[in-house]
Amino acid sequence: MILVTGGAGFIGSNFVLDWLAGSQEAVLNLDKLTYAGNRANLAALQGDARHVFVQGDVGDSALVGRLLAEHQPRAIVHFAAESHVDRSIHGAGDFIDTNIVGTFRLLEAARAYWGGLPEKEKADFRFLHVSTDEVYGSLAPGAPAFTEQHVYEPNSPYSASKAASDHLVRAWHHTHGLPVLTTNCSNNYGPYHFPEKLIPLMITNALAGKPLPVYGDGMQVRDWLYVGDHCSAIRRVLEAGRPGQTYNVGGWNEQPNIEIVHTICTLLDEMRPREGGPSYRTQIAHVKDRPGHDRRYAIDARKIERELGWRPAETFETGIRKTVQWYLNHPDWVAQVQSGAYRDWVATQYGAAAGA
Ligand code: NAD
Ligand code: TYD
Repeated sequence: MILVTGGAGFIGSNFVLDWLAGSQEAVLNLDKLTYAGNRANLAALQGDARHVFVQGDVGDSALVGRLLAEHQPRAIVHFAAESHVDRSIHGAGDFIDTNIVGTFRLLEAARAYWGGLPEKEKADFRFLHVSTDEVYGSLAPGAPAFTEQHVYEPNSPYSASKAASDHLVRAWHHTHGLPVLTTNCSNNYGPYHFPEKLIPLMITNALAGKPLPVYGDGMQVRDWLYVGDHCSAIRRVLEAGRPGQTYNVGGWNEQPNIEIVHTICTLLDEMRPREGGPSYRTQIAHVKDRPGHDRRYAIDARKIERELGWRPAETFETGIRKTVQWYLNHPDWVAQVQSGAYRDWVATQYGAAAGA
């Protein structure tokens, strides 16, 4: 079996669902169930003996040690993290605890377990660390996209904490020989995306008749990748990546935020037109910019294509249409995640007027 951390979050749950759709190999899913973790994402696996869910913290060394000894996984895929830049600006403590200290403790538990494995299992073991392109900082317009050699220049508390975790993972390979793999991926979108992030926030706010808050001029550029493609890249790196290597993963799809918002409005105008009303675009509201806002991210994903033959299967057009359709089809999921805690966040970040 494999151990997945953070498998009740956005990407982790997509990964677990995709994994078990394509493989008989069981998944041990360790997730703390923070505000971002949601067991409803895994409802399709209820009663499936291949999925073992444990609520717990990656920083709980005793628990992780016990789980490794008991289940003997052949790999760890580490998604668990605090993942939202805006929350890291309001308070970075949880980001330091989980992304840095939690990763350190997980690495130590993995090292102790791996060190005691028989030769063959030891050679085959992998620790795959899921990271972000944000560790590289912000690109000037026209500058070449991030390669794996790009200098680390994290600018937000979130990206700084992820950069620190990448360095720890690297060091555990170089110093201790732990067979690690790191993926640095661009912005994901798709089903089960928590509506604090740009794309699901815009879809759910549009449908609720609320303002669509675009930070600053909306000309910040991100490189969007459909979540299913990120999951297939991780499976491929786990299968054939070289220990100690890092792989950039991206969608070859750079777009300014305002264009993303326009596309969502156009799709909603077609798929769920406002009754007798004007376009959803009329709900767009430019709001105060994010402090330290990175202007542009772009991924050069040629290494993973050249060495491992991976390329995204979805275009942005196909992926965003599927995503909008998924949110239209799952109003109950949206209502459930927009709990009291979510409303508190919206009030903190966007002001009480934009809340509930
Ligand atoms: P998410 O916030 O949706 O989910 C994180 C999950 O981790 C949640 O289920 C949460 O309960 C769990 N978790 C948090 N702290 C934990 C702890 N201490 N112990 C155990 N579980 C804990 O995040 P996501 O968007 O799914 O991102 C997953 C990973 O991918 C993160 O490491 C993130 O940095 C990385 N990543 C995300 C993106 C993106 O666009 N979302 C892009 C590139 C990389
Ligand atoms: P986000 O989804 O938070 O991802 P990240 O900051 O990790 O890239 O934001 C994506 C982009 O959208 C980013 O440039 C910030 C911007 N944004 C808005 O303009 N309005 C919003 O309400 C949110 C959440 C994000």
